[in-house]
Amino acid sequence: MGTPSSTTVSVEKRETWSSSTGFILAAIGSAVGLGNIWRFPGVAYESGGGAFIVPYLVALLTAGIPILFLDYAIGHRYRAAAPLAYRRMAKRTEGLGWFQIMISFVIATYYAAVIAWSCSYFIYSFNLKWGEDTRGFFLGEHLKVGDPEISTSIVGTVALPLVLVWVAVLVVIALGVTKGVQAVNVIFIPLLFVAFAGLVLRALTLPGAADGLNAFFTPDWSALTDLNVWIAAYAQIFFSLSIAFGIMVTYASYQRRKANMTSSGLVVAFANSSFEILAGIGVFATLGFMAQQQSVAIADMKDLTGPTLSFVTFPAVINQMPGGNIFGVVFFGALIMAGFTSIISILLGVAASVQEKFGLSQRGSAILVAAACAIPSVLLFSTTSGLLALDTVDQWANNVGIVISAIVMTVLVVWVLRRSRVLARHLSTVSTFKVGRVWTVLIGFVAPVFLIIMLVQKVISLINDGYEELPQWYLNVFGWGTIVFVVVAAAILTAIPWKGRDDETFTPWPPIEEESR
Ligand code: PHE
Repeated sequence: MGTPSSTTVSVEKRETWSSSTGFILAAIGSAVGLGNIWRFPGVAYESGGGAFIVPYLVALLTAGIPILFLDYAIGHRYRAAAPLAYRRMAKRTEGLGWFQIMISFVIATYYAAVIAWSCSYFIYSFNLKWGEDTRGFFLGEHLKVGDPEISTSIVGTVALPLVLVWVAVLVVIALGVTKGVQAVNVIFIPLLFVAFAGLVLRALTLPGAADGLNAFFTPDWSALTDLNVWIAAYAQIFFSLSIAFGIMVTYASYQRRKANMTSSGLVVAFANSSFEILAGIGVFATLGFMAQQQSVAIADMKDLTGPTLSFVTFPAVINQMPGGNIFGVVFFGALIMAGFTSIISILLGVAASVQEKFGLSQRGSAILVAAACAIPSVLLFSTTSGLLALDTVDQWANNVGIVISAIVMTVLVVWVLRRSRVLARHLSTVSTFKVGRVWTVLIGFVAPVFLIIMLVQKVISLINDGYEELPQWYLNVFGWGTIVFVVVAAAILTAIPWKGRDDETFTPWPPIEEESR
């Protein structure tokens, strides 16, 4: 079966993770991020508490894991970052790769800002610098939040750590897959798990912890009839597993040819969800403590969701905890590690795509991409309107952009290109956990149908009800504008002629008939 061309292909030297463990740690590093600690507990609480576990698990099993496998299959079979991997699968699908990469690019610009806030709060923790009024401190002193406008006044306390975050990202990406990304994950991921286990244990021993857990786990079953709750569950799973962003395609492309892909995927998915639920337990046990200190019911507490949970409510709890500053240092340290191992995955995905398309050196593309991302990141998100912009861009990128990406991806692969059998056979040939018909039905039918319903509903509600009572022009610029930007940028990048290595000679391995009609 070894055709001459497959020997020429093996000449291609692609850097690889040094072991499956390296890959798994990096994939967990990408998945476990701010989404798990900063986003999940609030989303779950808002969306039915204990009952949220139902849509969450449904989303994980019907879309999360199947699409994770799809990302892995494409990256591993076509051995390239998203645009080239899609192009190798079928030339005309390169644009989907750029669409995914551009969404990732947008997410990186604000994700870095949250890591930068965490860096500041890490330092503030030592002397509880936020004082008694943690809300006033966060919005007023730390972010200096102003009106919804396109502000040009940069807030130094945000901009400085943000620039440092970008420099750190640049260094890691420039060092490459093994020496940079893998090395960071090998250190940070175990450390993160230890730190987080410590936090959760501490939280569970606080007085009032049980009340917090009750508030978190008490199911509101009526939430299950609310379509928005289901949308929230799917969006959380996509964001949290880093799927349909082109990022896992890229990570899988650095895996050796013979590598157990699906089993690694199951490990990653399980680790990610465990971490997420653990984070929910830790956060709500802590809130239970605070509620007891203040003799209020958790349901009456404010700032339990969104950015404010970590940066307003947590500091307030830390104030009241004996040894709170240690708790704060470990908590914000965990946020930094979790966030940093995710943002480097995004930037690696973008940099590798640019490198392959334009035939650049790895360093060159790392510098170019980090600069291209850092500049809008600083200009948009360290200004006085940064928080609002961040919230709005996040809403559109994750509830609209990534859903479109997943729909187009599944429909293209299964229905237009008819590659699901090839990809299933690819996965089953290299892995111990085999996939077959069930997987095809999930990615070809169940997931797209669910996702299309969700997308339509979400778009209607964003058009009719707007978002967070922000002015329409603002939503047009930062919300819909984000989608327009991604589409236009993807179209331009696709239209530019391919300048990198000629990809026409590529032969996928293992040899499986590509067209299977
Ligand atoms: N999965 C990461 C998190 O939970 C975020 C992320 C999204 C990373 C997209 C890579 C790509 O925070």
